[in-house]
Parts: sequence; structure tokens; C-alpha cells
Amino acid sequence: MAVIEIKDLRKSYRRHRALDGVTLTVERGEIFGILGPNGAGKTTVVECASGLRAPDGGTLRVLGLDPRTQRRELLQRVGTQLQEAALPDAIKVGEALKLYASFYDEPADWRALMEEWGLAERRTTRFAGLSGGWKQRLFIALALVGDPEVVFLDELTTGLDPAARRLTWGLIRAMRDRGVTVVLVTHFMDEVDALCDRIAVVNQGRVVHQGSPGELLGGDPSGSLDDAYFALIERTV
Ligand SMILES: Nc1ncnc2c1ncn2[C@@H]1O[C@H](COP(=O)(O)OP(=O)(O)OP(=O)(O)O)[C@@H](O)[C@H]1O
Ligand SMILES: [Mg+2]
Repeated sequence: MAVIEIKDLRKSYRRHRALDGVTLTVERGEIFGILGPNGAGKTTVVECASGLRAPDGGTLRVLGLDPRTQRRELLQRVGTQLQEAALPDAIKVGEALKLYASFYDEPADWRALMEEWGLAERRTTRFAGLSGGWKQRLFIALALVGDPEVVFLDELTTGLDPAARRLTWGLIRAMRDRGVTVVLVTHFMDEVDALCDRIAVVNQGRVVHQGSPGELLGGDPSGSLDDAYFALIERTV
């Protein structure tokens, strides 16, 4: 069953057309990757689908809800980790998790999440005192604190050390195994290879490929995803 259905989505910022008719479908329980060059429109798609930004046109359904008119209900059921999120400098890790949990009618156990993401030992550390990677982990935990059915992760592992990336991959798989649908914006082909059931490649505000990572290779299973991706982007500018 489709959990996200996006058809002909359009969004302009002043005169700049960021989304020029994006169409894609995400099935329940999959890890769906969104790839594309800087400025292609990936974050804009995620913001529209998670109810954080209003599109100009097209249709959009997430868990059967229209983010434009059923935003409150949608926000209770999705979790979003944004690429450029920030928190007040003085807030402590534990306080942030507890605060976010209070936004939801049926939150997850924030203390358990704090343990799971290795944040317990930093419970009393203030946001400003966390390194980039630890901020990232906190944002992941915050995206999960509402016990979401769909989670949007925008460049989740950018800035994480290699060990933390691997740990994160394991946690993303564990999320999927619990039935959560995961939408993952990434620039890393090893991540696509390791995690994604299907992907959409966005270029200049349009989807130029949708399918399994294997399908991107186009009949050459020994080929490199990096090469196939590069060729696709070159072909579709
Ligand atoms: N708030 C905004 N105001 C004006 N233009 C914007 C705004 N947000 C995004 N844009 C523009 O819209 C286009 C798409 O941006 P978006 O952030 O969705 O791209 P992206 O694919 O996420 O890129 P990146 O890989 O760099 O994160 C870009 O050209 C960007 O400059
Ligand atoms: Mg982005």
C-alpha cells in the first residue's frame, strides 16, 4: 500500500521553480531514498510531504492525509529530521526529548530513545555543547519521539563519523523492521546500496528515475552506482 503519493508537485520560491512536477510513490514499510544534486529540490519535497511547507500545486497524500488541510493530524503521525534544524543553545538533551514528547498525543518513551541513541550519558549536556554528530543523533531521536509511522530523514548521516554512520544504518533498519516507513535524503551511494529498497533521483525539480538501486544500474549488476548516477544526472540536465 502506498504511504506517500505525490503527483505533479509544484513549488516556486519567488521566481525560482524549485519543484517542477514531482511524482513519486512510497510504499508502506520501505526505506525510500531521495537523491539528487544540491539544489535539486529534495528538501523541498520532504518539507511539503511532512506538512512543513505549502506546495503551489499538485496532489499530495501521506498516510491518506492531505498535508495542506490535515496538517495537525499528519504531524502526530510523522517524524521529521530536517537538514538545517536548530534548538536553543541552552536546552539540555534530556529536556529537548521530554519537550518534544509533550507535543504528541501518544509519544514514544523518550528515556528509552535516549538510551537507544547513546544520548543518555549526555542527558544534561546543553545543545550548544554538543558536537555536530551528537546534534545529529539528537535530531534523529527527536524525529522518533512521536512514535511516527513515517519518518523523514534529510541528510541524516552527513557529518557523522564512520562508526556512527554504521550504527545509524543499523538503527534505520531496526526502524523499518518495526514497520516504520523511512524516507531518506542522501548523497551517499554506499548508504543507498546498504539501505534503500527503492530510490527517486531528483534533478532540477523533477524525478528523473524511480526504482530499486539495481534498476539504476540498468542491466549491469556489476556496474557502479556512482557511475550510473553520474551518467543519469549528465543525461537529464
Ligand atoms: N526558503 C527558500 N527561499 C528561496 N529559495 C529557496 C528556499 N529553499 C530552497 N530554495 C531554492 O530551491 C531550490 C531547491 O532547494 P532544496 O533545498 O529543496 O534543494 P536540495 O535538493 O535539498 O539541495 P541540497 O542537496 O543542497 O540540500 C534551490 O535552488 C534553493 O536555492
Ligand atoms: Mg536539502
